[in-house]
Amino acid sequence: MTGLKMIGIGRALPGRCVTNDDLSKIVETSDAWISERTGIRRRYYCGEGESTNTLIVSAARQAVANAGLTPEDIDCVIVATVSSDYASPSVACLLQAELGIRENIPVMDINAACAGFLYGTATASGMLQVYGGRYALVVGGEQLSRLMDMNDRSTCVLFGDAAGAAVYERDETADLCVDLGSRGNLEIEIQGCARPEPSVIKMNGNAVFRFAVGVIPSSLNRVMAKAGLTMDQIDWVVCHQANARIIDHCAKKLGAPEKFYKNIDRYGNTSAASIPLALYDMWQEGLLQHEEKVLAVGFGGGLTWAGALLNLSLGAVK
Ligand code: UT7
Repeated sequence: MTGLKMIGIGRALPGRCVTNDDLSKIVETSDAWISERTGIRRRYYCGEGESTNTLIVSAARQAVANAGLTPEDIDCVIVATVSSDYASPSVACLLQAELGIRENIPVMDINAACAGFLYGTATASGMLQVYGGRYALVVGGEQLSRLMDMNDRSTCVLFGDAAGAAVYERDETADLCVDLGSRGNLEIEIQGCARPEPSVIKMNGNAVFRFAVGVIPSSLNRVMAKAGLTMDQIDWVVCHQANARIIDHCAKKLGAPEKFYKNIDRYGNTSAASIPLALYDMWQEGLLQHEEKVLAVGFGGGLTWAGALLNLSLGAVK
């Protein structure tokens, strides 16, 4: 697949911070249970005037600016979400309008749940290859708080709202190595977003946990094999932030646990936003200032998964 280099990153968080203690006033839970079983300490929910669309627009604007580009430079827009404000128009089209991105380029949403950002990255690579162009904007964003059953303590404590965005530049020097898959499964369900609303996310957490700890190492091993690399040649590993115990388990299985980044404590599970949100925080923390190779993997509703080797060139934090 056409190679991509990530040259800009952005993120947006809504204004309302919700701690585990806040949730313990709504459902029968505790800070101790949530932090021990998931690693989550807080998450953010949209308030008045905030939604999936507003978060995505804000993250995308930041990513384009951080890439040193203007919206007119963008040649392809892919948005990954399971919680768009409308079925149509797509969030990508609304983003195009808000930022003033030009016409005659591919602009669309995709739904691959928590694997969405990496599915979006692969889609952008394909679009640039087929349709031409140099720069792709890929965004993952969610307002999952809209889809929460606040009576179901097994799910409502897990999710949060956020958006993360990346700008990729076409790179002829290296292929994009990805591993995309899906295990269509109606029994191990993660549901949400059924229209008409109201609808809520339901999840068989134990089954998804088992799926995740199986698919993460196998997907990442396939990506490394495709790239001809071993773990010692990888700078960082970024897993979809669904549960700290899942990440720790996989880090142990794959070796090099010090390369596995976690920020789930700050945001909870933000589905399609979680991988770019982690990359944004790493960049801000000074961990991504040079040319890095990052293995990333997403997994979730469907059940879908996506692994990828991301080549980063973000430069110093401005
Ligand atoms: O992004 C999409 C991908 N999603 C995931 O990767 C999620 C994967 N699954 C998980 O992360 C975990 O399975 C959960 C965090 C969802 C659940 O953790 P668990 O360790 O698998 O707990 P469990 O479901 O086995 O429940 C253990 C106990 C139960 O009580 P009993 O039956 O042992 O008395 C639950 O009722 O914990 C109880 N429980 C809670 N207690 C306090 C479940 N949720 C809560 C809660 N607070 N919020």
